[in-house]
Amino acid sequence: MIAFDFVFERPVNPEAAYKLWSQAVEAGKKPLYFSGGTEVVTAMRKGTVKADVVIDLKGIEAYKTLGIGNSPVSVDALWIGGGLALGALEEALPGTLLSEVARGIADHTVRGTLTIGGNICGRLAYREMALGLLTLGAEVVLYGPEGLVKRPMAEVFHKRLELKAGEFLLGFELEPAALAETRYFRRRRQKQTDIDYPICHTVVTRRGDAYSVAVSGVSAYVWYGEKTSARLEAEASPEARAMVIWERLSELAVDDLRASKVYKLGLLKRDLVEAFSKLGDPVETGAGKGTGVRIEDLARLEGRLLETEAKAGKSSAAACYSGLTEISVSINGKLRTLAVRPSETLLNVLRQAAGHTGAKPGCENGDCGACTVLLEGRPVKSCLMLAVEAEGRAVMTVEGLENTAIQQAFIECGGFQCGYCTSGFLVNAWAMLEAHPEADEAVQREWLSANLCRCTGYEGIRDAVERAKANRRA
Ligand SMILES: Cc1cc2nc3c(=O)[nH]c(=O)nc-3n(C[C@H](O)[C@H](O)[C@H](O)COP(=O)(O)OP(=O)(O)OC[C@H]3O[C@@H](n4cnc5c(N)ncnc54)[C@H](O)[C@@H]3O)c2cc1C
Ligand code: FES
Ligand code: FES
Repeated sequence: MIAFDFVFERPVNPEAAYKLWSQAVEAGKKPLYFSGGTEVVTAMRKGTVKADVVIDLKGIEAYKTLGIGNSPVSVDALWIGGGLALGALEEALPGTLLSEVARGIADHTVRGTLTIGGNICGRLAYREMALGLLTLGAEVVLYGPEGLVKRPMAEVFHKRLELKAGEFLLGFELEPAALAETRYFRRRRQKQTDIDYPICHTVVTRRGDAYSVAVSGVSAYVWYGEKTSARLEAEASPEARAMVIWERLSELAVDDLRASKVYKLGLLKRDLVEAFSKLGDPVETGAGKGTGVRIEDLARLEGRLLETEAKAGKSSAAACYSGLTEISVSINGKLRTLAVRPSETLLNVLRQAAGHTGAKPGCENGDCGACTVLLEGRPVKSCLMLAVEAEGRAVMTVEGLENTAIQQAFIECGGFQCGYCTSGFLVNAWAMLEAHPEADEAVQREWLSANLCRCTGYEGIRDAVERAKANRRA
């Protein structure tokens, strides 16, 4: 539960967003920009962040749009709105460095709402999307006291994005050819599970003779080798090139709870040598990862509104919620009008106001998956969402899965384990089979990593998924 009230605003253009911010400051109130909300909601619940006015940027069309021709400042750049959820980015730009980097962050249910803008501007220092954006030479478009401003990202990203008071990130511009033609190497290493934070995430790109390197997890912030390109070109062997980067990072590496700096540096050296070996080969050999996208594919994205951005408001009308306010939500196919406060999470409202107690409060940090529900058919963590964000949308909870093949399969195969994790597993498994009716082991592993069981194990659940697959086929 968030222990204080705030006003939730959803402006529809950048001018209005900045005005709301300025008016709040003038009135002695604390404003806060809001994107995917996965960090903000948790931080407000823990009391580490407070705000009187929460300004949701996702009502701004440019913020949630992707494509060539969508930038508010350039005609021919590829525009990536800051409100693009990482899951939507993966789907829109398959086979690219950006999509691959996005795929490594959190699990797919969190990626359904966590945005690229929030990842860069948030407080968590990993900021992994910066690895792809910096090494591809992205520019950032900001809105603030000077109106719209465009800057090379490398000029304004030093450990974090440097923003003036009230300024916010509207989106990114990329040269389409940079995304389509840059060869890259990427390796993300984590300690425990696939969805853990990285202990060494390395991205090396090569375009023509120019190399670019960025690393997250080794030092206390994202390291970007802005000035190393000329030195890398001057070296002949992969080992010598690797040492240019390694020596710099060995001064900055930090021990943390996940790994010692010695261990991280050992991994980094191996990955850098491999990267420079592969990218050093002539393009014709095909060594080093090339790109999976063509400029023609990117051109087709023109004007594409991010339907997959699960939390974006459907309507383009500005909205403001304060005090006790009514929202209309379809829950398990029934339209409900619920009285909520803007500070209430979707999880709490489903359980308390709507009486659907199937979604459980576990960690309330986005880690365990006990609170998983479907929003417009996609699994999301309801502890990381505000209920007002669900206005006008369709939510399905585990109660909506009564008499389904997945419920039956869980009963038959002992997939029902404890009352805490089961509903989240059921909802996620159901969504997985809707999206991938023949989900193989790799797909199952990826999807089920969004739900934690720390006592019984996953065998019964996997058996149930196999049984449900077979029952659906029959
Ligand atoms: C379960 C989980 C796992 C995670 N795993 C990873 C991981 O593996 N790697 C990684 O890099 N990160 C990871 N993160 C961190 C995540 O990327 C950040 O917390 C990120 O800020 C969340 O993005 P959001 O869109 O939800 O941001 P929000 O919660 O909406 O905002 C976060 C902060 O950024 C500010 N902000 C957001 N958008 C803008 C903008 N456009 N302009 C100015 N300020 C803005 C907000 O005011 C707020 O202070 C994880 C987070 C969760 C919840
Ligand atoms: S992920 Fe929401 S309660 Fe744990
Ligand atoms: S957490 Fe529910 S059975 Fe393990």
